[in-house]
Amino acid sequence: MKNPSNQDFNPPTQMHTFNKFKTFKLLEPSLSITGIIFITLCILFAFFYLDCRSVITGNGLRYSKEESDRFKWLKFGGYFSTSEVNERKRIDFLSNNGERCDVFDGDWVWDEKYPLYESRDCRFLDEGFRCNENGRPDFFYTKWRWQPKDCNLPRFNAKRMLENLRDKRVVFVGDSIGRNQWESLLCMLSCAVTSSKSNDSIYEINGNPITKHRGFLVFKFRDYNCTLEYYRAPFLVLQSRPPPDSRPEIRTTLKLDQMDWTSPKWQDADVLVFNTGHWWNNEKTVRGGCYFQEGAQVNMEMKVETAYRKALETVISWINSAVNQTKTQVFFRTYAPVHFRDGDWRAGGTCHLEKLPDLVSSLLQPSSNWPQYHIFTDVISNRTKSLSIDTTKVMTILNTTIMSSMRKDGHPSLYYLGPKQSPAAVHRQDCSHWCLPGVPDAWNEILYALILKRATVFGNDTSSSVH
Ligand SMILES: *[C@@H]1O[C@H](CO)[C@@H](O)[C@H](O)[C@H]1NC(C)=O
Ligand SMILES: *[C@@H]1O[C@H](CO)[C@@H](O)[C@H](O)[C@H]1NC(C)=O
Ligand SMILES: *[C@@H]1O[C@H](CO)[C@@H](O)[C@H](O)[C@H]1NC(C)=O
Ligand SMILES: *[C@@H]1O[C@H](CO)[C@@H](O)[C@H](O)[C@H]1NC(C)=O
Ligand SMILES: *[C@@H]1O[C@H](CO)[C@@H](O)[C@H](O)[C@H]1NC(C)=O
Ligand SMILES: *[C@@H]1O[C@H](CO)[C@@H](O)[C@H](O)[C@H]1NC(C)=O
Repeated sequence: MKNPSNQDFNPPTQMHTFNKFKTFKLLEPSLSITGIIFITLCILFAFFYLDCRSVITGNGLRYSKEESDRFKWLKFGGYFSTSEVNERKRIDFLSNNGERCDVFDGDWVWDEKYPLYESRDCRFLDEGFRCNENGRPDFFYTKWRWQPKDCNLPRFNAKRMLENLRDKRVVFVGDSIGRNQWESLLCMLSCAVTSSKSNDSIYEINGNPITKHRGFLVFKFRDYNCTLEYYRAPFLVLQSRPPPDSRPEIRTTLKLDQMDWTSPKWQDADVLVFNTGHWWNNEKTVRGGCYFQEGAQVNMEMKVETAYRKALETVISWINSAVNQTKTQVFFRTYAPVHFRDGDWRAGGTCHLEKLPDLVSSLLQPSSNWPQYHIFTDVISNRTKSLSIDTTKVMTILNTTIMSSMRKDGHPSLYYLGPKQSPAAVHRQDCSHWCLPGVPDAWNEILYALILKRATVFGNDTSSSVH
């Protein structure tokens, strides 16, 4: 019997975000009434545009005139009013002054053109992410688009992205949430390859199946000579055997001053997307006999927070010194919040009743229950202060924590065990990973915009003529 750790990570115990839900109790009655009216109206639209075609042919414009008129009569309950008011002021992110816009500051808005793909049309998805195929009855969670407050993102266009990535390597390094995002991008891009149902236009170069969870997977888009790769390195730094003659309770160590052993394989990739966080807790380290090592010294006392801080320093220094900034565009995605309500993943925490996002972003402050997020932010700002190194020059931070925290509706909950065995027992939920299509698609749309932006700035976007 599989359990919520089937994607090879267990959600940590000490980070519950459910405290935040208490704050929302007051709002709930009004939200749910509005929600019901809203959902009823939305059903009318829900069955349009469910295929890949709109992705391939997507143009830069988000709304035609006709569409925004249609949205006007839906304007109630605050769902659309803010975005309507701001609509006129927004510039295109890819236009000249677009870089001033913080694309991570925004709201989730209902969009009938979503999702960008259907899970049944994508053979690159782990069973655990195929929520609707596993019996999840609602599909609203697939219909939300991320709308930055001050600008419009380009609509995702798989062909344009692949043209930009021709002869290039895109590498995701991190834990299973990174894998979640990588699989999302595989699906988003495979829409552009008409024969993707056959094996030869997109294939794993070693013939490994997507279900392989150890090591790495490299998918090649043959017609574009582009690879989309995932390396499993949940800590980013090197995990290895303890030094000889170590105490018997030391089963492995994390060498906080060395990169993961796979780093030579992806050091010179064209796009690197890092993530880490969910494994930096006691369960995944010290309690399992994995202690922290610096140089030849194993430190039995070091706290996991300290270790995490040091590991981040190592990764950032490595990016600074080992990566060719002219060639490689580096991204670091921030912590993806979990949404276990009334208990963590072991104590029967749940999220299966969540059908709608939190739509009022201003009420959501960074939660004190995200130590990984705060430590990351700390490390970045400390480097800027004490070393005068602007970390954002060497890597782009995919600051997705807050936008994702609004999406308590986006997790597999009971529907991660495959079509036959789902739903899982109510007390064995997955509120850490994300259903696909779903939230990681939005992270990738931002990634897409940032990659195009760089290409535009460097003047190498050869694909703008592709439709
Ligand atoms: C394919 O891309 C790689 C870089 O990822 C490059 O070295 C190689 O020359 C390309 N092959 C062709 C046939 O263009
Ligand atoms: C694709 O490859 C998989 C595994 O290698 C195989 O099971 C499947 O039958 C292949 N599909 C086609 C259409 O060739
Ligand atoms: C860095 O990458 C650029 C572009 O690919 C290349 O021209 C340059 O030689 C590289 N620099 C080093 C030090 O390898
Ligand atoms: C900030 O950076 C300096 C220099 O790298 C280091 O000595 C110090 O411990 C750091 N402080 C925190 C709180 O990380
Ligand atoms: C991430 O976004 C939040 C909210 O917009 C902001 O407060 C924070 O400074 C950002 N963090 C980084 C590292 O950019
Ligand atoms: C874009 O092209 C220019 C020259 O045309 C080159 O110097 C630069 O390195 C290229 N940038 C990228 C990201 O390929």
